[in-house]
Amino acid sequence: MIKINRKPVPGYVNFDFDNIKFGQTMADHMFVADYEDGVWKNIRIEPYGPITFNPAMMALHYGQAIFEGMKATKTYDGVPVIFRPEEHAKRFNNSARRMAMPEFPEDLFVEAVKTLVAVDNEWIPKGDDAALYIRPFMIATDEQLGVRTSDKYKMMIICAPAGQYYSKPVKLLAESFYTRAAMGGIGYVKAAGNYAASLLPAIEAKKKGYDQVLWLDAREHKYVQEVGTMNIFFVIDGVVITPSTEEKTILKGITRDSIITILRDKGYQVVERKLSIDEVRQAHKDGTLSEIFGSGTAAVVSLVSDLSYKDEIYHLDGEYKIATLVKKEINMIRQGLKEDKFNWLYPAVIDNDVTV
Ligand code: COI
Repeated sequence: MIKINRKPVPGYVNFDFDNIKFGQTMADHMFVADYEDGVWKNIRIEPYGPITFNPAMMALHYGQAIFEGMKATKTYDGVPVIFRPEEHAKRFNNSARRMAMPEFPEDLFVEAVKTLVAVDNEWIPKGDDAALYIRPFMIATDEQLGVRTSDKYKMMIICAPAGQYYSKPVKLLAESFYTRAAMGGIGYVKAAGNYAASLLPAIEAKKKGYDQVLWLDAREHKYVQEVGTMNIFFVIDGVVITPSTEEKTILKGITRDSIITILRDKGYQVVERKLSIDEVRQAHKDGTLSEIFGSGTAAVVSLVSDLSYKDEIYHLDGEYKIATLVKKEINMIRQGLKEDKFNWLYPAVIDNDVTV
């Protein structure tokens, strides 16, 4: 049972829902659980606020830190729903295993997200691209400086209202020097370090006028991987192609999976395979490259207007038929305006509300 300590005066009444900046204002409550002596304990929801830690806390030194990102919306008739929380629970534990951290019970993960969203449901913004972004994370909390796995951990969930992550089509730079993930590494999990390593290349890309980096493989700098903030899709000759996750260098996106599922269901040919940047370049030259779009929890479906590789720029300004269709479909499912035929929505209602 999750103990709930509610904030006496909620903050959403003063929040400007018409001007949402991604991840800048947190909702009123947070979920907290502590891992000690091999068990998760002190399971609670309390008012959002600072936590204290010792400077020797291991997450700060050796980077045992993982996270997830998922979204809650309200259906047109006001029911708060979470998008595929069970899948996020599984991926969280996949990340935990790779980072030698304890798994978090998946049913408790879903219960925690559900209860927190129900408590903070007034923070769920309305509108096509709006949602409550949910950020579960786990950090190592032992206080010592030897390099080893921690014995103690904290699992927390915080939430923030979100609008569009990218407000206009994105310009990408295919990165020819830095790499994000090599085989055998941690590129396939949501480890904080993956994002830290992407920051300098992203700054350098921004200085050149690009929004983000498109990562190529670490061995040959030849095959497309992902963007770091999102997975990537290309439409070539009417076929939807996305890099395969087989080599474990790409995050197995849940939005990526939703897009594949929706498009296949609608009869589109969707292929997960290795895709070289040369093939993309050739397709642009031939006029067969019609769309590039990214997918992610935060990004949902984000159009890519330009891709630069070495000295060339592949510019696209077509109608983005497939990306637009799939984005609309996801938004409509999340708002209950389209049948949830894949059972992706999870209602956020509280079973056990114990206020302490
Ligand atoms: C997400 O989409 O949830 C992510 O974690 C990516 C980050 C850009 C917010």
